[in-house]
Amino acid sequence: MRKLIGPKKVKTAVFISGTGSNLKNLIKFSKTKKSPILIDLIISSTNKARGLMYADRFDIKKKIVHFKSNENAEKKILLIMKKNKINFICLAGFMKILSENFINKFKGKIINIHPSLLPKYKGLNTHEKAIKNKERFSGCTVHFVTKKLDSGKIIMQKKVRITKKENSISLAKKILKQEHELYPAAIMKIFD
Ligand code: GRF
Repeated sequence: MRKLIGPKKVKTAVFISGTGSNLKNLIKFSKTKKSPILIDLIISSTNKARGLMYADRFDIKKKIVHFKSNENAEKKILLIMKKNKINFICLAGFMKILSENFINKFKGKIINIHPSLLPKYKGLNTHEKAIKNKERFSGCTVHFVTKKLDSGKIIMQKKVRITKKENSISLAKKILKQEHELYPAAIMKIFD
């Protein structure tokens, strides 16, 4: 994809709603020479997202867009994307579901990280579900975003073992660590 866009880094926005550990990790990655993306903008669905602190720390523009009305929120975001010439979107703990209309405007240019081995355990509480089902493995997935939740084409996955003593907190921690390796690797793969 990079060849189509040119040698310059692709202007990217990261959408968050929470802690932002993936955001922080992606910012660090985007500053490396090999990174095909440049993180230019952070969109948060709430002003309470802890991840917003990375906007100040790394001097990146941030916009908070409340989703009281999804339609208005998306209109606002689209304008912001246009104004900032954003070409690629990484969802990282973004807790809002984007409409088909929005996704179509960025076809093949929105990706997400999900804390399970998709197609297993879409949606929320993935770790609880995996443990309850006595799975031996779980993991994380980076995938393209399509209108069907957590169902777009899988780009890359990473597996972790679920031990006998595992609880959802320990599993979440273990998977998050893998997410931080997987997300940049998946981006490299897309732009290869
Ligand atoms: C991650 O587990 C990610 O897979 C999921 O939400 C969590 C976000 O964590 N979509 P963080 O905000 O990046 O720390």
